[in-house]
Amino acid sequence: MTIRHPRRLPLLALGMVALLTGLWAGIARLGWDVPLPRSGFSSLHGPLMVSGFLGTLISLERAVALGQPWAYAAPLLTGLGAVVLIANGPLVVAQLLLLGGSAGLVTIFAAIIRRHPALYTFTMGGGAIIWALGNLLWFLGWPVFLVVFWWAAFLVVTIAGERLELARLQQVTAGAQTAFLLCFGTLLAGLLLLGWWFDGAVRLFGAGLIALALWLGFNDIARRTVHQSGLTRFIAVCLLSGYVWLGVSGLAAMLYGGVPVGPQYDAMLHAFFLGFVFAMIFAHAPIIFPAVLGARMMYRPLFYVHVLLLQTTLVVRLVGDVAGWGVGRQVGGLLNAVTLVLFLANTVTALRSVPDRPGATSRAAS
Ligand code: HEM
Repeated sequence: MTIRHPRRLPLLALGMVALLTGLWAGIARLGWDVPLPRSGFSSLHGPLMVSGFLGTLISLERAVALGQPWAYAAPLLTGLGAVVLIANGPLVVAQLLLLGGSAGLVTIFAAIIRRHPALYTFTMGGGAIIWALGNLLWFLGWPVFLVVFWWAAFLVVTIAGERLELARLQQVTAGAQTAFLLCFGTLLAGLLLLGWWFDGAVRLFGAGLIALALWLGFNDIARRTVHQSGLTRFIAVCLLSGYVWLGVSGLAAMLYGGVPVGPQYDAMLHAFFLGFVFAMIFAHAPIIFPAVLGARMMYRPLFYVHVLLLQTTLVVRLVGDVAGWGVGRQVGGLLNAVTLVLFLANTVTALRSVPDRPGATSRAAS
């Protein structure tokens, strides 16, 4: 395999370490008897998955897009923050590194917005600010069960911005733009109320997620491209499934309201993080990994295996959560983790086996 930008590999590797360690901690948190380096390690699951893995990946992708050497400080800081968490360094140091990395992403977007002031760049910049504010609240002592909604908002807003960019949704009508801003406003209102009225704020946030799911489902060109073939269809299938899970997580948040722990919390969080966020990662991986690494990648129908597995194992887990079926929750959750490892294997294999000829992926497919 030829990688044109091998110097980006260590940053990607830091994100991958956070992902794999975060998955391990998540499995332990589900109650599986896996060896852990120390007690309390499973509480690192959320921060490692969101800020350590996704934060590093998104910052790296944006640093590549900006093309300025200083921008790589953002994924470096978040990656180091994850390492400090894993190595049991002082929590405050890890929190400061993650906060610094997210502030770095805000700076990257400030530079991107100066070049391309458009709805999609403002949206993604807003997502970065929300992430940095969430990390600040965590640093100031807010519990993860509150901060997690700031982290989720960072991801959903960033992804909406990416869809605006990749799928050229910026050609949406003025009415649709206003509707988008209303969805965004509802999410924001939920976030701002969290510290005062946990239960109502989570329900409002859920309403914002449902509205955004409907907006994305209606406006995304995936509804049309799903009738095409190959990679274009694969991406559309992932996107549409993700929007359904986004709606499910919003519905769960509206139904259950503020719960800080347990199966209902698990259901609303993982419909979002696995069903929605990972569907988006599955969709964009054939575009983003080659862009970041400067390698080429072939689309293979085999990619549907990890997509289908995610759907089925997540349904099992959520049925387990909702119906009080502990085995379903535990087995479903374990298989969720196996699915993500399979996805990594499918992606790496496709990267390795790429001849430099037509058929390799491109952003146009999205
Ligand atoms: C794939 C396998 C996964 C497993 C086995 C797993 C397991 C868990 C468990 C058991 C909880 C605690 C729920 C409760 O209170 O009962 C949890 C919380 C959480 N998970 Fe996951 N999870 C997985 C994937 C993910 C992913 C992909 C993300 C994000 C991208 C994520 C982010 C979170 C967050 C932010 C929390 C809240 C943490 C906290 O309150 O401390 N999880 N997870």
